[in-house]
Amino acid sequence: MTSPYQTAYQRSVDDPEGFWAEAAREIDWIKPADKVLDDSAAPFYRWFVGGELNTCHNAVDRHVQNGRAEQPAIIYDSPMTGAKRTITYAELKDQVSRFAGVLKGLGVEKGDRVIVYMPMIPEAPIAMLACARIGAVHSVVFGGFAAQELATRIDDAKPKAVVMASCGLEPGRVVAYKPLADKAIELATHKPEKVVVFQRPEQTGEMTPGRDHDWAEEMASATPADCVPVKATDPLYILYTSGTTGQPKGVVRDNGGHAVALKWTMKAVYNVEPGEVYWAASDVGWVVGHSYIVYAPLLNGNTTVVFEGKPVGTPDAGTFWRVIAEHKVSTLFTAPTAFRAIKREDPDGTFLEKYDLGHFKTLFLAGERSDPDTLKWAEDKLKVPVIDHWWQTETGWAICANPMGLEPMPVKHGSPTVAMPGWNVQVLDENQQPVKAGDIGALVCKLPLPPGTLPTLWNADQRFKDAYLVDYPGYYKTGDAGYIDENGYVYVMTRTDDVINVAGHRLSTGAMEEVLASHPNVAECAVIGVHDDMKGQVPLGFVVLKSGVSRDQGEIVKELVGLIRQEIGPVAAFKQAVVVDRLPKTRSGKILRGTMQKIADNQDYKMPATIDDPGILPEITEALEGIGLASHRTG
Ligand code: COA
Ligand code: AMP
Repeated sequence: MTSPYQTAYQRSVDDPEGFWAEAAREIDWIKPADKVLDDSAAPFYRWFVGGELNTCHNAVDRHVQNGRAEQPAIIYDSPMTGAKRTITYAELKDQVSRFAGVLKGLGVEKGDRVIVYMPMIPEAPIAMLACARIGAVHSVVFGGFAAQELATRIDDAKPKAVVMASCGLEPGRVVAYKPLADKAIELATHKPEKVVVFQRPEQTGEMTPGRDHDWAEEMASATPADCVPVKATDPLYILYTSGTTGQPKGVVRDNGGHAVALKWTMKAVYNVEPGEVYWAASDVGWVVGHSYIVYAPLLNGNTTVVFEGKPVGTPDAGTFWRVIAEHKVSTLFTAPTAFRAIKREDPDGTFLEKYDLGHFKTLFLAGERSDPDTLKWAEDKLKVPVIDHWWQTETGWAICANPMGLEPMPVKHGSPTVAMPGWNVQVLDENQQPVKAGDIGALVCKLPLPPGTLPTLWNADQRFKDAYLVDYPGYYKTGDAGYIDENGYVYVMTRTDDVINVAGHRLSTGAMEEVLASHPNVAECAVIGVHDDMKGQVPLGFVVLKSGVSRDQGEIVKELVGLIRQEIGPVAAFKQAVVVDRLPKTRSGKILRGTMQKIADNQDYKMPATIDDPGILPEITEALEGIGLASHRTG
């Protein structure tokens, strides 16, 4: 007898058009699709071609029409300011249609890009939904990036307008967004015509007359705008993510496939019914924030929590439990690092005793590998299922998960369980051949990918092909390595490229190397991710100085740390670098970053057969020992 999961999975593989056409019935269409899957331009695939809809209508207006007008759509809870606010679906519709009117009034039209640069306040989802309402394409930029990173995104997306808050709040400091955005616009070649500023009382921003407009003033006089029909294949948003270089990848998300897939996941993956309170403790600047703070819960008629705070220190390690209890949260989604932070502060879970978590059903974790210790701790303390699931900015939703609404499966610690319907996940070796169960290889997904995944990169079809489709023809390369066991459970072990995961944030070591190399004293450099008990990984730099540089090395390291903060931003969490005489390389000149990482993490390593000069490794070990990492070991 086949199980509900197996039935759904098999159908999604055998008859993807039928499977997703059925899921599409849950969405209001202005015009149904002519073709569910268009493969005529493979390897570029398009879902729901010919269909028309409006994502904002599906996320907001239709719930107002269908009896949810007075249900909270958003609960804003900010331990940073003490503010709490509830916005019903009717109020959300009013706010979003007004802000859509503001954008229209400022000349933003269908297809125009709008950069949204906001912290965790309700105005962020309001701005995103307002863009969707008028067919504009939003691109949200995370607040922890530096002006240069914002400038790079402005130049790539070429927005007509920037919508921003005057500041964000981090524990112990106000992050002044306005001067940062002004600087970014100054650095960028493309100049956005309009800037809308939501002034926060903690720090207001100075306005540039003619270009800058005050959010509150504009809203007061705005004419609300209606939803416009957009094509299913029109872009809803661009979200930039780290690749292997300093130039981030503009992941494109379409309207139709996205709405269908995300709505489907709310039941199948998360087992959440409309009306429940769903909380993704992430940030709107990341894909988890896009999919599971804003779009999926609203498409499903849930109440979503917009939380401005940290898991610890705002004010204590009981904050998550307070929010769950106070707002009757049924489902929490966050990164394992948040739980490692809580566990470190309150290993016995004493804060849990203060709160009634009676409504809490399930904890979902993603963004980085869930270490079994943390997962078991969460299971033990919370007494609810703790579900690891694996996905990426590119995919927009889970490649692998434990499908709680289809068929909950036994949890295997260390595995995000099984491939979700729509995902034909395989493990291939370097010759593109399948490996046997249990053997490690590249995790790839057979094309076409399901709806909601990236159709391409913004204005970069060739880069899309080169980055994801060329190495394994017929497959999407995830960039992760891992294995599948004999029961079909997938294990995601490590990235195969220059991407690292720091506190659930995806960062490019290549981008950091570009910054270090720009320092006038640096001849050569390498950045690797080393193990960190709380953040999972943190970056560590190695630099070789130009000959003749005799300055104090401590000073140079300090400058390098400052340079990364200035060029990439505090989110890079780059705090350590060591000066070495030489970097270990292969005979063809490739830096042996993998070996350096093993030494730093105190793991056994094999002397690479292709190493040019083995004598360099003890020098690296010694330098690492100097900062408290590594110890002499060879295998
Ligand atoms: N705006 C400005 N700066 C920010 C920022 C933002 N939105 N977010 C983080 N930063 C800054 C931090 O203040 C910190 O600055 P510092 O070097 O001056 O201390 C730096 O960027 C590094 O931040 P982070 O790596 O997040 O470390 P942290 O010590 O501030 O917090 C955690 C660690 C684990 C508590 C936090 O990362 C967290 O809650 N993560 C889990 C949730 C999550 O965001 N997941 C993302 C995907 S699901
Ligand atoms: P991002 O695009 O920021 O979501 O980062 C995606 C990357 O994070 C993936 O390619 C993985 O390397 C890692 N990742 C996300 N979720 C998991 C998970 N559940 N287990 C292991 N790695 C994960």
